[in-house]
Amino acid sequence: MKSKDNILAIASGKGGVGKTWVSTTISHIFANSGRKALLFDGDIGLANVDVQLGLSPAVDLSDVFTGKATLAQAVTHYDEGNFDIIAGRSGSGSLANLSVDKINSLSRELDALAKTYDLVLLDLGAGIEQQVQAMAQLASRCLIVITDEPTSLTDAYAFIKILRMQNQDADIQIIVNMAENQREGLKTFGAIKNACESFLKFSPRLAGIVRRDPKVKEAIRSQTPILLKNSKSMAAADIAALAVKLMAR
Ligand SMILES: Nc1ncnc2c1ncn2[C@@H]1O[C@H](COP(=O)(O)OP(=O)(O)O)[C@@H](O)[C@H]1O
Ligand SMILES: [Mg+2]
Repeated sequence: MKSKDNILAIASGKGGVGKTWVSTTISHIFANSGRKALLFDGDIGLANVDVQLGLSPAVDLSDVFTGKATLAQAVTHYDEGNFDIIAGRSGSGSLANLSVDKINSLSRELDALAKTYDLVLLDLGAGIEQQVQAMAQLASRCLIVITDEPTSLTDAYAFIKILRMQNQDADIQIIVNMAENQREGLKTFGAIKNACESFLKFSPRLAGIVRRDPKVKEAIRSQTPILLKNSKSMAAADIAALAVKLMAR
């Protein structure tokens, strides 16, 4: 299924690399620039988006899957950030447990909902399963978050390989997160770029480098977005620069 080109997926393969934090922060930056943004928590069974933002949505994706709500009814407005979210629910299972039918109908509903937004961000969660890939295919751009850990690189490579097998023209860009500095970040990008060029004959673009910054953990711990808690931090500056590039396209 092909959509309007305002759906952006955030993926990684490996968990714990900062996808949810990157997704919430990019949504926030888009909202601050006057765009109507929706953040979809695709890490359904871990429900990290609402936790990072300190929200307790009355309706979430598990209500959609049990037929109690439509996807549009599962939208919660996040007042402080002025963007919308569709939350998962902890313990409700993962995308990988959903049937192909469920994924297809979810994709159709999401695609229709996307037409009412300037930007829809899909925080895809970890894993390289078919269901995660199907959601990724809904997006016109896929941002892969990596760190310098070898497992992050191998899992990201596996994700990219499968994504490319399904769509040779997929727009795949890399975010290096938790980089010690710009130079180290470029080295990490070089590693994934080389692997893609050697084995997949394709060169991913660099979306941006975000430095490791204790202010990120501090903001997450207080369940407050970094742009409200530590707006002058290194990580906030890095991700703002990255988001400006994303908006330019
Ligand atoms: N740029 C960063 N600098 C420092 N710590 C970070 C950064 N990005 C993410 N983290 C840390 O990584 C943890 C995992 O982030 P999260 O967004 O939940 O990852 P994922 O969604 O990929 O599992 C966060 O709790 C935070 O402490
Ligand atoms: Mg997450």
